[in-house]
Amino acid sequence: MSPSLTVRRIAADQGAVFRELRTASLREAPYAFGDTLEEALSADASTFEETAARHATSAASTSFILYTEGHPAGLIGACFEDAPSHRAFVSELWVAPAVRHLRGGELLVNTASGWLAGSGATEIYAWIADENRNAMRFYERLGFGPTGEHERIARAPDQFQTLLVRHVPQLQDADETTHE
Ligand SMILES: CC(C)(COP(=O)(O)OP(=O)(O)OC[C@H]1O[C@@H](n2cnc3c(N)ncnc32)[C@H](O)[C@@H]1OP(=O)(O)O)[C@@H](O)C(=O)NCCC(=O)NCCS
Repeated sequence: MSPSLTVRRIAADQGAVFRELRTASLREAPYAFGDTLEEALSADASTFEETAARHATSAASTSFILYTEGHPAGLIGACFEDAPSHRAFVSELWVAPAVRHLRGGELLVNTASGWLAGSGATEIYAWIADENRNAMRFYERLGFGPTGEHERIARAPDQFQTLLVRHVPQLQDADETTHE
């Protein structure tokens, strides 16, 4: 039987869980993210605590955590860019290898998209490293397509990333969703 999957918005006191998921994702899939594991490991615990506290209440940026049978097993960020265009982004998506292919990634993207749509977003953007073919296919299956924007990755200037976008489907606007 498949485990039940739940996604919930991060709570103010989840700095340690946030740090654990973030470092696990950077250790397991360093090719997928703009930050490095070294940066995350050298950051003070208080940095993660402050981010969790901000993401628990902010209207501009947040994180959602995936749980399988109550255990944290994935993460996604959602934010509005601090610019006049005010575009809505999902980022830092990661699902623990042991629970992949169970639609946890889809649940995270849809929940984060629903949160952004609840604040007025009609399009959701995501940067994907070109070499991350698995993530590219995953986002395309969810209805994301190319915007034409393409740029070098700051962490690895010999590599590129592509900006994808999807129009917001009518999704639930909730701080928690479950897939059984
Ligand atoms: C990309 C990632 C988040 C996907 O997570 P996931 O939980 O496996 O995602 P889903 O289960 O929703 O979908 C993954 C695939 O499984 C398929 N799938 C979902 N449920 C399935 C099932 N019951 N049986 C078989 N396949 C299934 C989906 O169709 C999808 O197929 P595709 O890759 O061919 O498009 C995960 O692979 C990951 O964390 N990768 C490393 C980090 C990364 O690349 N992050 C993205 C940064 S941009």
